[in-house]
Amino acid sequence: MKDRIIGRQVISLLSADSTNDYAKELLEGGTPREGVVIIAGEQKKGRGYGRNTWYSGRGKNLLLTVILYPEFLAANQQFLISKAISLGLYDYLSEHISDVSIKWPNDIYVEDRKIAGILIENDLVGSTLKDSIVGIGLNVNQEYFPVDIPNPVSLLQMIEKKLPLKKELRKLCGYLDKRYRMLSKGQADKINREYHKNLFRLNEMSWYQSQGKPFRARIVGVSDYGQLILENEAGKTLEYNFKEVEFML
Ligand code: BTN
Repeated sequence: MKDRIIGRQVISLLSADSTNDYAKELLEGGTPREGVVIIAGEQKKGRGYGRNTWYSGRGKNLLLTVILYPEFLAANQQFLISKAISLGLYDYLSEHISDVSIKWPNDIYVEDRKIAGILIENDLVGSTLKDSIVGIGLNVNQEYFPVDIPNPVSLLQMIEKKLPLKKELRKLCGYLDKRYRMLSKGQADKINREYHKNLFRLNEMSWYQSQGKPFRARIVGVSDYGQLILENEAGKTLEYNFKEVEFML
């Protein structure tokens, strides 16, 4: 497609410390083309959200980072990138399997298990977004996972079929690109609507935990600033930033 942004250039590495760190180095050395995808067969220091690491067997899964320049968004709208990318992953996975959902803030789930994680690192200048490093780890052909990884799952475990990574990367980039271009064309409302429609546990009364205290509540939404909005049993609305609340699975 002529006006495609994500995936029009691909840098393919056999091995990297972390594709997000590789993207950071590219940005430090110049201005890489928007939408360039850095993909690695393995990562020596794959990073997850917060202090977590990201596990992937060599050559088994998709480990990639996309460099974006979402200058059309204000800094306080940065979570919209996460919403668009989550939807792109949702669209891609739904081509293969059902029961896919987006778990706030940065996971994609199949039923109660995690199939993909997103690590977005934004560079802000004043109130604008200068660049965005979008890291994605997607479990494709992993047969089994180390026991200490909480509730993982791969496409192979779901469909019992190995998938060709190069072809799947191309498909995934197509879906990510479609959602990112919707955002760049000012269709944030549509992104928000579809994000909420596919949100894990939306409107379901379930257990959460904050500051060590468990409580029951239901998700009523995720703000553009990225806060999870819950309503507790007493009907009170509560807003949480990342790490302030945990899902009890
Ligand atoms: C999470 O679930 O905590 C986010 C995981 C993100 C993992 C990907 S793999 C490609 C990119 N490079 C990294 O070091 N991390 C992200």
